[in-house]
Amino acid sequence: MIEQHHWVEDSNPSSTPTIHDICAASRRTVLQGGVGAALGGLFAPWLAGCASASAGGAPLLGFRSVPVSQADAVVVPEGYVAQVIAPWGEPVGVAGAMPAFRADASNSAAEQAVQMGMHHDGMAYYPLQGSSRHGLLALNHEYVDHGLLYPDGRQGWSAEKVRKSQAAHGISVIEVAEHDGRWEVRRPSTYARRITAYSPFAVGGPAAGHPMLRTAADPSGRTVLGTFNNCAAGATPWGTYLSGEENWIYYFACDRQPDAHEVRWGLRRGTGARWHEHDERFDAGRHPNEPNRFGWIVEVDPFDPNSTPVKRTAMGRAAHEGATTTLTRDGRAVVYSGEDARFEYIYKFVSRDRMQPGGARANATLLEHGTLYVARFDADGTGRWLPLVHGQGPLAAANGFADQGEVVVKARQASDALGGTRMDRPEWLAIDEARREVYCSLTNNSARGTAGMPGVDAANPRARNTMGQVIRWREGDDFDAITFTWSHFVLAGDAANERAEARGNVRGDAFACPDGLWMDRRGVLWICTDMSPSAMGRGEYTRLGNNALLAADPRSGEVRRFLTGPAGCELTGATTTPDGRTLFVNIQHPGENSESGDSSGAQRSSHWPDGGQARPRSATVVVRRLDGGLIGT
Ligand code: FEO
Ligand code: CA
Ligand code: CA
Repeated sequence: MIEQHHWVEDSNPSSTPTIHDICAASRRTVLQGGVGAALGGLFAPWLAGCASASAGGAPLLGFRSVPVSQADAVVVPEGYVAQVIAPWGEPVGVAGAMPAFRADASNSAAEQAVQMGMHHDGMAYYPLQGSSRHGLLALNHEYVDHGLLYPDGRQGWSAEKVRKSQAAHGISVIEVAEHDGRWEVRRPSTYARRITAYSPFAVGGPAAGHPMLRTAADPSGRTVLGTFNNCAAGATPWGTYLSGEENWIYYFACDRQPDAHEVRWGLRRGTGARWHEHDERFDAGRHPNEPNRFGWIVEVDPFDPNSTPVKRTAMGRAAHEGATTTLTRDGRAVVYSGEDARFEYIYKFVSRDRMQPGGARANATLLEHGTLYVARFDADGTGRWLPLVHGQGPLAAANGFADQGEVVVKARQASDALGGTRMDRPEWLAIDEARREVYCSLTNNSARGTAGMPGVDAANPRARNTMGQVIRWREGDDFDAITFTWSHFVLAGDAANERAEARGNVRGDAFACPDGLWMDRRGVLWICTDMSPSAMGRGEYTRLGNNALLAADPRSGEVRRFLTGPAGCELTGATTTPDGRTLFVNIQHPGENSESGDSSGAQRSSHWPDGGQARPRSATVVVRRLDGGLIGT
């Protein structure tokens, strides 16, 4: 069911570059004469902030925690103000195509294709001329709620309804600016753009043109229509946007028994999102290669609305939860990505080539060539990156891997063969450049240790893990290291819970189900929570209220609740401007609950942000301090 937020699969028997990215690259330039030139003019203004960002001493967290909330509202700490921008249905600002949102959801599919999509998720801010007051926001629209998308839900399912559903997915690029402490979306904007579930994509990397990607409609295997279920995201140091295709398999229908490959990727006999009824390529029974064309990290140039986005297959196929990028000392790209499904994997990609000056165009093939690794976490606190390279170890034709293209299409099977560690649903990653540490949220895994499922291991230490954890590791000499050391930053939970495995070890405010992560320029780790709407406020989550955005101090381990969201929502996509004075965060699926089904606004637990009996709408929240100071201090 597409309405159900939590597809949890167990088919396995910088965002803008942070100031850390820029500072670290700058330091490397000084030390080695390396990549600095490549940073070019785009991010040059950020370099001025490096000295202050690395100056230590003051406590990282200075605000007072907000209390647990069950209100249908966004609550921020004293001294802060929150503002809503860019809710679902507002025009993105394409000149000559700015249809107003209609509150009864009667906008057409064509109108939706130039309006903000539904269910805002991963997001990155791109400064224009280095500004922290004027820039672009690129953001994902993970999925849709068909009860809210149309005046009459899914009654009278039609080609128009399928098209509108597809148009409400994908990615938006909007131009935003601040004036006197208020942010607004600039319309029209020459940057404004929507990418939908039917926009043309090029395919790059070892699976481009591969037989497993060829279909009747695209015998070349090099042009794919659309991206959907885009979850987490990240900016690259060369100024592009990376977005992960997450639970794409559930959009496919299949009227026969899936084969072993399809089963490993979670294809089930059934009707999927019912897109196939009016768009035949989503019938995997008839078009078995179409699902192989999804599950990739896609790259978008947010500065060029006419550019063709690309599926970067060298980084492997997965239920990708975004992509977080840094650079090695000599300027090669390193991209981390989790696969949010039960008992799946964490990946790292290291590019062969170095980043070049000149932005997206100059780096158009940077993510085409390199080495993909899967993580293995050993019980002694060390770990190893295992290469997914055709011809090495078990990844040979005899085992079903004919070439590197097949290795990346079958990255799960390759990781199974290599012995990667099956994790508790890896979600977002954040990088502490100064310490060469990477943080990854493992949101929960209630199947861990249950009958027929894998048991606990050192990295995933709790049976029936309802709470989740944040794991962190320190790479060896550089981000291309083959070995690392790891520990748990925090086991989420509530100390008042009866069951020991649900108590956790949080220092500070209790929380559950970490999902979005972002490390700001001061080194604060921001944690977005995503307790399932159907479980929120019940059982082991009883005392935790609505989902929240928390701030953590990586040195002391302290966690403080910074913002609570409206009823039924999750928090996601937190990011900050380079000056650290504006925080953007997305409110996704307010008013969702397990009973909501096809119901429209009146029956929902939330009417945020419009109030009354309005349909709840996902939107971006902008948080500032009333005195204009640094967020979180
Ligand atoms: Fe789309 Fe893993 O949350
Ligand atoms: Ca997520
Ligand atoms: Ca999640």
